[in-house]
Order: sequence, then structure tokens, then C-alpha cells
Amino acid sequence: MSSADLVIKEGRVAISSSLRSCAIAAKDGKVTWIGANSSAPSARRVIDASGLVVLPGVIDVHVHMRDPGATYKEDFRSGTAAAAAGGVTTVFDMPNNSPPTMDADSLGRKVRAAEEKAVVDYALYGLLTRGSSREIAPLAEAGVIGFKCYMAETTGSVAPPSEDEMREELALVRMAGRRVSVHAEDDSIIRPRISKLREAGRVDALAHYESRPEVAEERAVSRAIALAREARCDLHIAHLSSAAGASDVRTAKRSRSRGGADVTSETCPQYLLLDRADYAEKGSIMKVNPSVKRKEDRLALWRAVRDGTVDMIATDHAPHSAEEKTAGDSIFDRPSGFPGLETSVALMLTCVNRGLLSLSRYVRLTSEGPSKAWGLYPKKGRIALGSDADFTIVDMKREWRIDPARFVSKAKYSPFEGFEAKGAAVYTIVRGGVVMDNGHVDARSRGEMQRPL
Ligand code: NCD
Ligand code: ZN
Repeated sequence: MSSADLVIKEGRVAISSSLRSCAIAAKDGKVTWIGANSSAPSARRVIDASGLVVLPGVIDVHVHMRDPGATYKEDFRSGTAAAAAGGVTTVFDMPNNSPPTMDADSLGRKVRAAEEKAVVDYALYGLLTRGSSREIAPLAEAGVIGFKCYMAETTGSVAPPSEDEMREELALVRMAGRRVSVHAEDDSIIRPRISKLREAGRVDALAHYESRPEVAEERAVSRAIALAREARCDLHIAHLSSAAGASDVRTAKRSRSRGGADVTSETCPQYLLLDRADYAEKGSIMKVNPSVKRKEDRLALWRAVRDGTVDMIATDHAPHSAEEKTAGDSIFDRPSGFPGLETSVALMLTCVNRGLLSLSRYVRLTSEGPSKAWGLYPKKGRIALGSDADFTIVDMKREWRIDPARFVSKAKYSPFEGFEAKGAAVYTIVRGGVVMDNGHVDARSRGEMQRPL
């Protein structure tokens, strides 16, 4: 074989759910050769992965790059550089920007920002809100990976569509051949609760949890499933946070064989590693929508991760400035969300090391799961000949302490500050290009937009 651009050798490589000792070569962005270390071709760059594990590039389907509109919180360069630093090779950016990504014009603005600045590959969601119906086909045509529908108010104050409108929009999304990710919290439960808690003088972080209880997720998840089933539209439940939500997703998946909609789901490290008991210590830093819930929800989400109810781990990387996160006196005056791109891989590998999930399950949740659900498989989501040469090379033994002051993201705080991690990404490789090498990020704009195949 002619000389390759990149060879990775001496590592253990995750290929179809097992680890093999082999070498990989990449040329022109694709995997072109897999074979014995001793017969690896020559290459312009060779990475010695001895002692390391080579995973398919980690795909994160839920990030907020804040570009355009709030680039003081994050922008496409800082956010995708944070992805590279954390070991993430493809990010899907959410549409709750200013302006929201809801028509060809606003999508064009975002595409330009991303083209100019993205360090890793990216895909973009279009927004489903009030009055989106006629924008669905043009947005799909312009290459959105799918749509996002906010069923409750959250950052960006995007108006949830009425139930009837959502029905109509889901049918149009189906016709456009896309999937809808829903932020499943019920506005009619949350709004009055916030007013009552405010009136009662509550300002503490736990009041955020009380304003967005388990049933708010349960009601919205079941509503979204019912509407998607009727419209026969593929549905994705974003950031599952409760036992009841997970249980509804499990049931919906079982009934798929009886002609239901295809339902997929994601959860995030915060719902697997934090619970209600943490609000007192962490305060508003851990304020996020949906709220972090009870211990029993956390444990149920672990079951859902292990039994396939959860198809992917996302971060919901939702940066705000540190000042915003601690502004004013009340939890209700502070924004929801925190950065996650530089902690997720390490947190989840720590869980693998603790025996909470297998490495092969983790790989499925970050590669095959997201790429299949969103139409990128087999270009992305596996290590195989002809697929994109995206890799997250990890050191499973590296012990370190999470220090947000060192984040590449503009948001330098985390509810996981001080967490003792075991496991870290040491190289991030996007289509054969090394974008992170032992913590050093090459922040050139190499990212490409990914559209459903
Ligand atoms: C997100 C944000 O800040 O954009 N915040 C959050 O708490 N998750 C919005 C969202 O996904 O709800
Ligand atoms: Zn959300």
C-alpha cells in the first residue's frame, strides 16, 4: 500500500464490540487499512498507542456552541476546541441561538460561523417552534441533521408549540426524512411551580429541582411519544433524567414492533453521577434543565444505560459565564446548564473502570448509537475500512483530578470540579487529523458539516 497520512499502532482497537491488537492506517480522511502491527504501512505521522485504547471518535449529539448570539459564553472555535480537548470528534449543535436556527437564513449564519471556526466535525439542528411548519422542508434541504423541539421554557426562551401544532410539525419532519429531538419537560407543570416557589421566598438551588419534578418529564415524554407515534415520526428524547421517563422510553421501544415510531434517547453524565443530595453543596453551578433528580432516578438511568433504553451519552454542553451562574440572590435568576465537553469522556471512562458499564457498551453509546439514530452510519460511528478516520484514543489508567480552571471552553466551572477521574482521552483525531495530542489542542478550522447520509 502507498504511504498513509496517519498510522496508529500498538494500541488495542475497539472493532465491532471487541478489543483487537492491531494497527490502523488513514489516508484522505478515511480508514484505508487495518492489520498486524508488524505490517503497518509507512505514514507521514505515526502514533504509538502502546498501553492505550483506540475508540471510534466520540459523537456528542447535544451541545450549545452559542454562536451566533452569545459568543461571550462560547463560540464555534472555543466550543469545538473544548470538544477536541475532551476527546469528542463530532458535535451536534442545538438551535436555541439568537437568532434561533429556524429558517434558511439563520441556518446560513450558523453554517458560516461553523465553517470559519470548527475544530471538529459538526452537525446542526433546526428548531421546531410556533409557526415552524413551512420552514421544515427548506431546513432539511439545507442539511440539518434533525430538529429540536423544546416542550418547556429553557435557555433562549423558545416558545413550545401547541400540541396540535407539534402534531402537524412531526408529520412534516417525517416527510422530510428526519428525527426530532425533544426537550421533554411539561411547561404547564413547571411554570406555576416556579411562581409558587418564588412567592414562597425560595432562592436555594433545591428549589430548582422542586420546580421541575419527575412528573414534568414523565408527562412530556409520554406526550411526545404519543404524538410521534401518531405522526409516525422518528423521535429522540434528549437528556433523560428520571426513572419514569426512562420507563416510558423502554415501553415505547418494545411497541416499535407493533408499528410505533422509532424512539431513541440520550442521557448525560450529570444524571448518572449527581442527584438531589448534591444541590446543597454544589448550588447553582449544577442548575440544569431538566433538573438533576433523586437517587432512585439516577439508579434507574443506569439500568436504562445498561439495557439499551438509552442509546447514547450526550453532554448537553450548555456554557454560561461564571458571573451569570452566580448572579443575584435567587436560583431562579440564574441560567441553566454548564459545560460538559471536557469532562464527559473522562467521567464515563471512570464509570467503566468502576465496573458500572462495560467499555463495549460505552463505545456503542458514543459511536454506533448516535451515528445510527441520526443517519451518519457507517461514515461515522465505527472503526472499519472506508469509514471516517475519527478516533478517540484513551488512557484507561490515567488518574487525574478535574480542574475547570484548565478548561478550553470559555466556561471555566463544573459541578464535577475536584472529581477524581480514572481514564482520559489522550488523542482526538478527526478524519485523520490530530486535533488533540496529550492535552494540546490544534485549534485550526478543520471541522466539516455532517448531513444525514
Ligand atoms: C440549555 C442551554 O443553556 O442552552 N440549558 C440546559 O439547562 N440544558 C438549554 C436546554 O437544553 O434546555
Ligand atoms: Zn434541553
